[in-house]
Amino acid sequence: MSDADLPERIGTGIPGLDEMLRGGFFAGTANVVSGDSGTGKTIFGTQFIVEGAKNGENVMCIITSEESKSIVREMKTSFNWDLEEYVNDGKLTFVDITDPSLRLQKSVEIAPSELIKSFKKLVESKIEEEKPTRVFIDSIEALFLAIESNYKLRTLIDDVFSVFRKHDVTSVITVGSMYDLDEMVEYGADSVIKLGRIISGNNLQRSIYVMKMRGSGTINEVRVLNISDNGMSVLAQSPYLE
Ligand SMILES: Nc1ncnc2c1ncn2[C@@H]1O[C@H](COP(=O)(O)OP(=O)(O)OP(=O)(O)O)[C@@H](O)[C@H]1O
Ligand SMILES: [Mg+2]
Repeated sequence: MSDADLPERIGTGIPGLDEMLRGGFFAGTANVVSGDSGTGKTIFGTQFIVEGAKNGENVMCIITSEESKSIVREMKTSFNWDLEEYVNDGKLTFVDITDPSLRLQKSVEIAPSELIKSFKKLVESKIEEEKPTRVFIDSIEALFLAIESNYKLRTLIDDVFSVFRKHDVTSVITVGSMYDLDEMVEYGADSVIKLGRIISGNNLQRSIYVMKMRGSGTINEVRVLNISDNGMSVLAQSPYLE
């Protein structure tokens, strides 16, 4: 295969990470970022779409819960990133599925799997409308929480992820560890990045590693994830003190 036939790599916008991924995510794939609360999932996804918007791409952010609504304010106070500016420039579209006008709210009358099917349809129509190259979903667990059968869960996850592959959209999807959904979501993903924290003595370090990446070699090391006023970056060093 010549280089020209190789699938395109999409830069993550996170300094140091593309090296671990041998150039970035494959275009048109579903990439899961998984980690405990406060490990940096929302920052990761935001930095990924901001990178696209800065490059002049159309990008989309899908908000699935009340908690993720504060993203614009948090990114402003954390890093002085002005997401509203990208919205005004027509580069960034927010899709807030908790918005009552979308009729996607949880209700006793709607079966959980019907809700996910409606979500899939909504995402698909928004993608067709806005034609984003990058989509960020923060986070996926609110959506899948009520599905009881693991088999059904797998099928529905695959269903949602297939929308991105079909439309050649590179997506970042966050998942937390609270409801034990992370493992199932990771199965369905094309790549999985794990964020964490490591306590060593009285030292607290953020960590990052690539858990899987279909179709690619990766750097198989746990590295330090740094968050500062400039955003997130990966250092070529181990979080474990030697
Ligand atoms: N300017 C900054 N400098 C250093 N660290 C920061 C800065 N801004 C935020 N952080 C750290 O990043 C953490 C939050 O990251 P983020 O919100 O992406 O985590 P998360 O994994 O999405 O959490 P949750 O599971 O609660 O949604 C904050 O708790 C804070 O410790
Ligand atoms: Mg978050």
